[in-house]
Amino acid sequence: MNVACKIQAVGVRKEYEVSRKGGDRILALDGVDLEVHAGEFLAILGPSGCGKSTFLNIAAGLERSSAGEIRIDGQHVEGPGPDRAMCFQDHVLFPWKTVWENVEFGLRVRGLGRKERAAIVAHYLGLVGLSKFANQYPHELSGGMRQRCALARTFALDAATLLMDEPFASVDAQTRNILQEEILRIWDQGAGPRKTVVYVTHSIEEAVFLADRVAVMTARPGRVLGVFDVPLYRPRNDETRSDSFFRDLVVHLWKVIRDQVERIS
Ligand SMILES: Nc1ncnc2c1ncn2[C@@H]1O[C@H](COP(=O)(O)OP(=O)(O)OP(=O)(O)O)[C@@H](O)[C@H]1O
Ligand SMILES: [Mg+2]
Repeated sequence: MNVACKIQAVGVRKEYEVSRKGGDRILALDGVDLEVHAGEFLAILGPSGCGKSTFLNIAAGLERSSAGEIRIDGQHVEGPGPDRAMCFQDHVLFPWKTVWENVEFGLRVRGLGRKERAAIVAHYLGLVGLSKFANQYPHELSGGMRQRCALARTFALDAATLLMDEPFASVDAQTRNILQEEILRIWDQGAGPRKTVVYVTHSIEEAVFLADRVAVMTARPGRVLGVFDVPLYRPRNDETRSDSFFRDLVVHLWKVIRDQVERIS
């Protein structure tokens, strides 16, 4: 195995049994091969229902593949672990906990002491601009603020691998652009080596803006159709979005994905 390879998917297949009468099966993934390098930001694009969430869930150890496997640092993933943090589209904050307590929760679970927890929570709330809202409850925040809280919670866990499933899908376009820059800033400013990020999105612009490479999946059953390099400088900002390389790559990827989307419509 290549030493720089952090996550390796080999022939991953996932078949779901459907409970309704007739006992149909749904083949969500079939033969997914993918390598994610240590410290890279990899985006996954693909038509709805092609198995992107399923793939992330298998990498997180929340679901098992029917065949093939995902290895992290060369080890077959058999369940969840502290080396991975997951961030979902609907930000699943605990509504009965404050912003501070939501970010602190995972650190408690990991057995960190009070002082250490306080330092980490304060640091990440500062990074996402929520220090003044530490004692508010999720329902008292805007959608963008809730998403920032979810980001703080994910990064605070200091897991080497971050698995993100459309984390900004439910926020408005302007907030989303700002959050995209924020996630890159936090990713850049973390202590130690950069984390490995696998980021699922429906937005081609978002994938190109964020990622080092973009993996495009086929329509269901999903497999990796191709992996595309994003040769854009970092830090990325508003200028990046008007760069001709950015625009050209977005147009190219749209052509690739359009074929797949048309297969399911
Ligand atoms: N628990 C389950 N039981 C049965 N079928 C499932 C289950 N989870 C997912 N599926 C099916 O597997 C396929 C892939 O689902 P998945 O949620 O991974 O797609 P996705 O690419 O994340 O889609 P989207 O872009 O809409 O989020 C879909 O056809 C879905 O209906
Ligand atoms: Mg999904």
